[in-house]
Amino acid sequence: KERRPGETRVAATPETVKKFVTLGAEVFVESGAGQASNISDHEYQAAGASVGLSAADVVKEADVILKVARPMNGADGEDEVSGLPRGTILLGGLQALTQKDLMEALAKQNVTSFAMELMPRITRAQSMDILSSQSNLAGYKAVIDAAATFGRAMPMMMTAAGTVAPARVLVFGAGVAGLQAIATAKRLGAVVLATDVRYAAKEQVESLGGKFIVVDEEAMKAAETEGGYAKEMGADFKKKQTQAVRAEVLKADIVITTALIPGRPAPKLVATD
Ligand code: NAI
Repeated sequence: KERRPGETRVAATPETVKKFVTLGAEVFVESGAGQASNISDHEYQAAGASVGLSAADVVKEADVILKVARPMNGADGEDEVSGLPRGTILLGGLQALTQKDLMEALAKQNVTSFAMELMPRITRAQSMDILSSQSNLAGYKAVIDAAATFGRAMPMMMTAAGTVAPARVLVFGAGVAGLQAIATAKRLGAVVLATDVRYAAKEQVESLGGKFIVVDEEAMKAAETEGGYAKEMGADFKKKQTQAVRAEVLKADIVITTALIPGRPAPKLVATD
């Protein structure tokens, strides 16, 4: 069961349990693990899992442990690591490159861990690409949440009695999450602008009906790594970007920030003022 506040996902569904059982594995599900995802213990049981166990019992029984979010340790309030038996295999979104303390705790415990976010995005591994699947949903949900909070309508509303202008949505980062945010905002009728450090994103933004803000064409053409990710940009580019985007931030009704650099903290792109 996930223990982080606000985490409603669960690492196995009745469908995946069935697949493990077909492979010959024995599956144990902690009591209530699927509750926040609207999956009852009974459904796991019907799929062939043993349910009704506590976390401590599940961990004792298992050779392999599946989680969505990284286990809590130390500063997180709860300690899910020290109870893991030595030699356990752990799979989940571990944020391995930024969670040094957790990685050290797992190593000390002799746990073999697989950080699913580091799965290479090669053809053979596409069905395990948790970054794409979750970014896609996050981009969609960011727009839906923003639209619900926004006091006006998203599309232009024209009636004989008057016209309401469409919402202006500005999206930072046009990777998987950003492109889905652009597409969702467009479908709702908003005017959408976006920016990214990778020049290749321009065509993708435009193909979804968004307007792309170019900061520095030359620098942007050099900003993409061989793997298709962004490089961390220097202070000079960041200054130019802030200037180029500032007026649009001030005009925007909704700003969605999805910019990321793998393994580094997200760049801070919207200044307080
Ligand atoms: P990401 O989550 O690492 O970053 C999100 C976006 O933020 C990226 O487009 C990045 O260029 C941008 N960014 C970084 N710093 C920025 C800054 N200072 N200002 C504005 N934007 C900034 O990237 P994601 O979404 O994982 O995608 C990276 C690339 O990988 C894309 O080209 C995507 O199309 C590609 N991709 C390929 C897949 C495959 O071949 N199976 C699967 C998923 C993505």
